[in-house]
Amino acid sequence: MEEKKKRIFSGIQPSGDLTLGSYMGAIKNWVALQDEYDCLYCIVDMHAITVRQVPADLRKRSLEQLAQYIACGLDPDKNIMFIQSHVPQHAELSWVLGCYTQFGELSRMTQFKDKSQKHADNITAGLFTYPVLMAADILLYQADLVPVGQDQKQHVELCRDIAQRFNGVYSDTFTLPEPFIPKMGARIMSLGDPSSKMSKSDPEGCVYLMDSPDAVARKFKRAVTDCETAVRFDPEQKPGVSNLLTIYCAATGKTLAETESAFAGQGYGVFKPAVGDAVIELLRPIREEATRLLGDKAYLESVYRAGAERAARLAEKTLRKVYKKVGFVAK
Ligand code: TRP
Repeated sequence: MEEKKKRIFSGIQPSGDLTLGSYMGAIKNWVALQDEYDCLYCIVDMHAITVRQVPADLRKRSLEQLAQYIACGLDPDKNIMFIQSHVPQHAELSWVLGCYTQFGELSRMTQFKDKSQKHADNITAGLFTYPVLMAADILLYQADLVPVGQDQKQHVELCRDIAQRFNGVYSDTFTLPEPFIPKMGARIMSLGDPSSKMSKSDPEGCVYLMDSPDAVARKFKRAVTDCETAVRFDPEQKPGVSNLLTIYCAATGKTLAETESAFAGQGYGVFKPAVGDAVIELLRPIREEATRLLGDKAYLESVYRAGAERAARLAEKTLRKVYKKVGFVAK
């Protein structure tokens, strides 16, 4: 008998355009996982409104994100791809889980502390309870593994704590998920400030998947390096160059050693444009395919509708169980 595949859930907020960092750090790995695992990949629009969004932009970016997921190689037949707000069970389970989460636990979340500093004029209850919604995303589907970056590990751990607590009170209900930080996941840093992660809210330091070749070339030419000339991987002493090496290797599939020796003695004037060219070639087919898909709204609609239907079927099963266990009267 075929062994049951493990289930994976992950999502990205459509709060900004997808970047080279989202691709190399997350989506590329999702693509690699799609055959071996039973995967759900979500566009978490409900998380995005925890900080203020322009409605028309949010709507547009959510669709673009779906087109880009597909253009990056995620297959809508192999994976369940959907938009979070289309599956109401996320909000429903989130309410219940919120009643099994401590105020103190949420207060300790480092992302909440950071974001509430950044958005000091708009610290909403939604921003505070964001990890509860994330726990609902994961637990609804009984996910075993949650591929996330280091910055989301604390949220997955909280999700696990909530699940464990609920299971303890009511008997086994939820699979306990684990953060899954893939080995090959590259952590891409800002081109302008290599000490911080490439972020979609920093247009100059980040490369968007849909950037034109000219824009990509310009951003790499301007990338911050150091005052030496050697193309050498040394994240401590040479964070900028090391980040460019990581990007070059991820874009071309070459090893660090190969790349260092290929550029030995050539200096940054040669290296930086070469990284730009490698990224331009990597992104070209993705950008072209995403653009083509965005012209086919009917197709995108069929994908997100089918995705939401499949997701809701799984989600509803979990939600019924939960409602029964906490003592709600069956409909
Ligand atoms: N909080 C995640 C982020 O900002 C996005 C997210 C929402 C997520 N729900 C999730 C990631 C569930 C993994 C699983 O990156």
